[in-house]
Amino acid sequence: MLASELIERKRDGEELEADSLRSFLDGFRDGDVADYQMSAMLMAIYFRGLSDAELATLTRAMIESGRRLDFRRPGAPPAVDKHSTGGVGDKVSLVLAPLLAAAGVRVPMMSGRGLGHTGGTLDKLESIPGFRTDIDLDDFADIVDDVGCAMVGQSPDLTPLDGKLYALRDVTGTVPSIPLIASSIVSKKVAEGIEALVLDVTCGDGAFMREEEEALALARTMVELAGREGLAATALVTGMDAPLGRAVGNALEVREAVGCLHGGGPSDLEEVTLALATELPGVVREGEGLAAARDRLRGLLRNGAAADRFARLIERQGGDPSVVEDPGALPAAPIRAAWPAPATGWVHAVGAREVGLAAMELGAGRGRLEQAVDPTVGIELRVRPGDPVEEGAEIALIHARDASAAHRAAARLERAVRVEPDRPDPGSSALRWERRRVRYRVTAEGDEALD
Ligand code: URA
Repeated sequence: MLASELIERKRDGEELEADSLRSFLDGFRDGDVADYQMSAMLMAIYFRGLSDAELATLTRAMIESGRRLDFRRPGAPPAVDKHSTGGVGDKVSLVLAPLLAAAGVRVPMMSGRGLGHTGGTLDKLESIPGFRTDIDLDDFADIVDDVGCAMVGQSPDLTPLDGKLYALRDVTGTVPSIPLIASSIVSKKVAEGIEALVLDVTCGDGAFMREEEEALALARTMVELAGREGLAATALVTGMDAPLGRAVGNALEVREAVGCLHGGGPSDLEEVTLALATELPGVVREGEGLAAARDRLRGLLRNGAAADRFARLIERQGGDPSVVEDPGALPAAPIRAAWPAPATGWVHAVGAREVGLAAMELGAGRGRLEQAVDPTVGIELRVRPGDPVEEGAEIALIHARDASAAHRAAARLERAVRVEPDRPDPGSSALRWERRRVRYRVTAEGDEALD
């Protein structure tokens, strides 16, 4: 069948049979289906969705487009990973991977770069002087065996079809689609050859999924899809109305993560990290219970064990491990500009999306995947939704390359931080997410609301 016929059938809402869809996808991989045809197909999928069978075909085509790794070793601790659907100030991986290694599981973590208003773990790690994320797969496996965790970029020979599709989705308005996100993430994690996966499905202003129902639907789709591919997965739906933690920007986020690795919070970052950690096999001991396991993990943050793993990982990946004891060794921006509260009152919202765009405006993020980022710039927030503020008090500190970038970021912050004269309603969506950042748990058995 002609590529154009398949596009028309999908456009009109028909289900494509597995062999037709597969030959279209393989044709795109091999250059026989043009970018403009695949762009049209992606838009048709965006509007029409995919049936379970079509989703399975797409995911398989991605997995089989490249190499497959295998970190499973009989008798060794389980190899696990975490993937987030993206957010602002999300430095969870930097804390979680060393913490899990200190808890005795193995974490071969493959991460991505930031795009648009969202940050990426690789950009954050590369703000550590000397740190390399492009190490070869044999060295990667050795570091996982020795340190318990390693953090690298997605190898280009793993799921190359996803890489090609993602590049097109990025420029055709087709990123926020449940089947396209689910197949992209699950295919990469299956090809990684891990035993179990925990998914952080972000929800709210700064996430791809703005509404809880959408986030839950994405979580269910990924858990089920991973299960069908033989990868045990659970998902947590976590809040992304306000940025996670207080720092947004690469080196600033490493600094905050290092603070958390030493047991110094912030509390929302610690809450999300511990909740994700205890979803993975090999972390909660038999008969221990969730609360006791989380207390034990907090102990690994406070006694330096997790921070020590991070220092070892940095050293093995070519970076300067002294940043773990002295975050002053991280690069810093030349300009720091205080941003004052516009009025006296209460903070009703700190919009994650606008804060992310402000950081991007400063140079911390990128509009296209191939652009470079500035590791030094970003924003430190001094307030959270629900806090009282006095007019003129510093509510954010902008780290910038120059005064005009600081000015542009301040204009974004004005839209992000909403101060009103009255105290916010404790039942408002922003304050509910503030009280509990982890809202739902989705497993193969079903969903659980956590509040
Ligand atoms: N992260 C991915 O890896 N893929 C997507 O499609 C979206 C977020």
